[in-house]
Amino acid sequence: MSKVLIVYGSTTGNTESVSDAIGKFLEKNGLNVEIRNAADVVVENMADGFDAVFLGSSTWGDDEIELQDDFVQVYDNLDKAGLGGRKVAVFGCGDSSYEHFCGAVDALEERVEALGADIVGDPLKIDGDPDLNEATAWAETILGKL
Ligand SMILES: Cc1cc2nc3c(=O)[nH]c(=O)nc-3n(C[C@H](O)[C@H](O)[C@H](O)COP(=O)(O)O)c2cc1C
Repeated sequence: MSKVLIVYGSTTGNTESVSDAIGKFLEKNGLNVEIRNAADVVVENMADGFDAVFLGSSTWGDDEIELQDDFVQVYDNLDKAGLGGRKVAVFGCGDSSYEHFCGAVDALEERVEALGADIVGDPLKIDGDPDLNEATAWAETILGKL
């Protein structure tokens, strides 16, 4: 059975609820899923033993792109996570009224690619209050690529 790790950073609970919806969907489809809050995760070697890793962060800041507070330590230490050659999907919540809509997702995608991970699917960028059906539909597209 494929093992999937989901690591998320969420301030008001939006990216957390999206992570839960993705996790439930993947479990229903027979995957073994572990969900970790970025606030608690030890990044070093965190990907070991997992077939795929999902990384999710909301976006903050005004003029500059800021990752969600708890996710910053994950982002900064990603080179130690063991992502090279592993399947990685990225997602996050944001608000399109800001200049850099879901900029954290773009930054994450760029970093993960630079680390030699195998990005699967398109990034998921959720605008405003999360539509969990959108999250599930996205997870379905990723599922076919795992
Ligand atoms: C002060 C502030 C700055 C924000 N900056 C951005 C931004 O630059 N880009 C964006 O897409 N969303 C931005 N947002 C919207 C949040 O990312 C959005 O509310 C998101 O759903 C929060 O997700 P979370 O509860 O998982 O942290 C900002 C929100 C606030 C309150």
